[in-house]
Amino acid sequence: MKKLLLSLFFAMLLVLGACGGGGDEGASDDNTSEEQTDQSSQDGATDTTAAEGVYQNNCSSCHGGELGGGFGPALTEIGSKYDSAQIVDIIKNGKGQMPAQSQVSDEDAQTVADWLATME
Ligand code: HEC
Repeated sequence: MKKLLLSLFFAMLLVLGACGGGGDEGASDDNTSEEQTDQSSQDGATDTTAAEGVYQNNCSSCHGGELGGGFGPALTEIGSKYDSAQIVDIIKNGKGQMPAQSQVSDEDAQTVADWLATME
């Protein structure tokens, strides 16, 4: 009888011990590495970084690295002359001595035009 009580006691100790020491199963930190969503698209705001990239790749050879002009005219105040839709049109169809920039996607043309339209 005494032995039974004793083993019950130990059993209780074990149970209590297990409970007391518990709580570390929540510690596993699985850092869900969610992919950083590319925010350069979608939001309506002018994306200057993307626009400058498009400009450097497609326009700067003629219009200058700082919009200052070269073979083509300076674009530093182009926004006071054209709105972005008109600039898209120039990019897509060319103008006078400027050949149509058909390598520029519609999206990139819109991006760079929105940006240039702010140059006033
Ligand atoms: C091959 C050289 C060349 C490239 C590349 C070029 N342009 Fe031009 N661009 C010109 C020339 C030359 C003119 C002047 C056309 C004219 O009026 O006869 C011009 C004119 C313009 C005008 C009108 C300027 C004004 O005052 O009327 C805009 C806007 C313009 N370009 C934007 C762009 C953009 C944006 C890009 C890049 C996507 C680009 N161009 C790429 C040569 C170029």
